[in-house]
Amino acid sequence: MNHVILGIESSCDDTAAAVLADGRVLSNVVASQEIHRLYGGVVPEVASRAHQENIVPVVDQALKQAGVTKEQLSAIAFTRGPGLIGSLIVGTCFSKALAMSLNIPLVEVHHMQAHVLAHFAEDPKPSFPFLCLTVSGGHTQIVLVRDYLDMEVLGHTLDDAAGEAFDKTGKLLGLDYPAGPLIDKLAKEGKPVFEFPEPKIPDLNYSFSGLKTAILYFLRDKVKEDPEFIKNNLADICASVQHRIVTILLSKLRRAARQTGIREIAIAGGVSANSGLRSALEIMGKKEGWNTYIPRFEFCTDNAAMIALAGYYKFLKGDFASQDVVPDARLEW
Ligand code: KG4
Ligand code: ZN
Repeated sequence: MNHVILGIESSCDDTAAAVLADGRVLSNVVASQEIHRLYGGVVPEVASRAHQENIVPVVDQALKQAGVTKEQLSAIAFTRGPGLIGSLIVGTCFSKALAMSLNIPLVEVHHMQAHVLAHFAEDPKPSFPFLCLTVSGGHTQIVLVRDYLDMEVLGHTLDDAAGEAFDKTGKLLGLDYPAGPLIDKLAKEGKPVFEFPEPKIPDLNYSFSGLKTAILYFLRDKVKEDPEFIKNNLADICASVQHRIVTILLSKLRRAARQTGIREIAIAGGVSANSGLRSALEIMGKKEGWNTYIPRFEFCTDNAAMIALAGYYKFLKGDFASQDVVPDARLEW
């Protein structure tokens, strides 16, 4: 083992640590914070306190599972942003202190670039250049990836993220947070019989706030006619909403592929776990002649293996952070 990287992720509500040896994932540990379900969304202050409780045991477990001691580490990679500032502070301070005590380099990582690099956790890996649709609870982006650390955002959401569209719809339907996985499950039992509008947004950008309003008014009117409407049509409503979110995501992705001529197409981020999106991507990929790439579930949602991977490529270039580094909730590319 030449290069052993410890990755640490604490940007939102999952505390995660992973160990990577020469680009190979040896462990990938995530402690999810179930407490936010009670509030129907992530409560930042609660999240940062939970990170403080979780971080030492999670790192310990990642090292144990990898069969690696602290002294064998070559560098520590951590999420500097974007994310919730209180959450980011915990991972950043912990990483700085550990790197200083071991006298090894510290590598800062951009959370969204790391989601893209999750594709290099396992085979098959996309070849450069490729397009990556990164869809999470906070972001929706089409990224042109020229090389590991050479990426350009071609389009992004102007308001809500795709994950937010799932989660906010879930709230209207009375589902627990995060609603994305529940809507996915319910959609499998339903049919997309209700029609929701597709936004008319120029270029390769997205918008999901109009869809959210359309769903709100649709439900309000239907419930007025029949108070049991949601309960009696839950699976069909979920299938219809999911269908519309997926068609919005994929039509812009297809436009980006046609514009750039790129046929290596990847999806990443929490929403790429969605089974409707996965199967629609496969179908579109066959029609368009794409090679498609979807990471395994544990590499789609927030994880530290992707942070360690991004850290590894920066480490190889000698791109280290100083001990003065501070987290940045709105970190630019
Ligand atoms: O990437 P991620 O784990 O965290 C962020 O960086 O935001 O993404 C979380 C988002 C949540 O909005 C969640 O509802 C959504 O991913 N999500 C899903 C599914 N699994 C997670 N959305 C739709 N279908 C799923 N199966
Ligand atoms: Zn994420």
